[in-house]
Amino acid sequence: MVLYSGSFAAQDVLCDLRSDTVTKPCAEMRAAMAGAELGDDCYGDDPTVARLEAQLADRMGKDAGVFFPTGCMSNLACLMAQCARGDEVITGRDYHVYADEAGSPSVLGGLSLEPLPVAEDGALEPGDIRAALKPDDQHYAVSRLLSLENTVGGRAIPLPRMQAAAEAGREAGLALHLDGARFFNAITALGCTDTDLAGLADTVSLCLSKGVGAPAGTVLVGPAPVLAKARRARKLLGGGMRQSGVLAAAALWGLEHVVPRMAEDHARAVDLAEALRPLGQVRQATNMVFFTPADAVAAEIGPRLAAQGIRISAGSPEIRLVLHRDVDDAALASAIAAFQSLG
Ligand SMILES: Cc1ncc(COP(=O)(O)O)c(C=O)c1O
Repeated sequence: MVLYSGSFAAQDVLCDLRSDTVTKPCAEMRAAMAGAELGDDCYGDDPTVARLEAQLADRMGKDAGVFFPTGCMSNLACLMAQCARGDEVITGRDYHVYADEAGSPSVLGGLSLEPLPVAEDGALEPGDIRAALKPDDQHYAVSRLLSLENTVGGRAIPLPRMQAAAEAGREAGLALHLDGARFFNAITALGCTDTDLAGLADTVSLCLSKGVGAPAGTVLVGPAPVLAKARRARKLLGGGMRQSGVLAAAALWGLEHVVPRMAEDHARAVDLAEALRPLGQVRQATNMVFFTPADAVAAEIGPRLAAQGIRISAGSPEIRLVLHRDVDDAALASAIAAFQSLG
């Protein structure tokens, strides 16, 4: 992705809409990190990591959790834990695990991926899942796992649509994974409980470095035997960390203080979408706004906004703008004023 970073100093940035991964720990989160009880997690004795893993496993109604440095590694370790080399993972063509993880399931996991079309609402169609299943024949990879995602491009897929896809996978005996990089945005928008969504899958990957606001980290939750294998895969991939309680403490703070306020990010996304509507085409979903500027506005949009302290990602023709906890009302007002000045 090309980023319009501009050449201004950090203190000149008024609003960073590139991604919800850009958040920086606030003073309270830093205090929680500084005060965290630590140990060597590869010896299993970092109490803060253990607390985070147990808390999320419990919240999601699963046996166990494992703390990973990133969402990509969590997804990959999960697939490797449940599939043998040569097995097939069915997933969405636009889903991160297929489209945005550098082909790691194939390159590092030896897995075959079957990407399916993604419906308008972000879901996979049960009929497509059934049609993708391979018969038990030496010519084919063994269909082993269905990897779902929610939210997808900001869209919170309704539970009945998730259930329908999950059922198609279950009927075929597939293991079910949910890439919940923005799980908490999904349940906030759907108004459902953690377990309503997490209960549809065997394993769920929960990113803490996006809307939750922590500097790094993802927890994978699921059945104990699968998580034991995923922990081994984490080591294999070089993701075993030591005093990672400093990161887990940030995540615990975010789960307590940031997640309950996530609806504010969604509300600001609605406000931004409304403000941009006269300037081009706009769609909004949870914390994301997708903006296709009218021709007059589009020219040099990134550098012109950067000059006003507003950071956006490059996109052509559509630009993704992402709300997060570091965009408060004042930052949003600056961004809106900067966009309006382009018209
Ligand atoms: C849906 C989805 N899954 C997984 C990831 C990977 O997370 P990470 O960047 O921590 O590897 C992302 C990152 O943006 C994502 O959007």
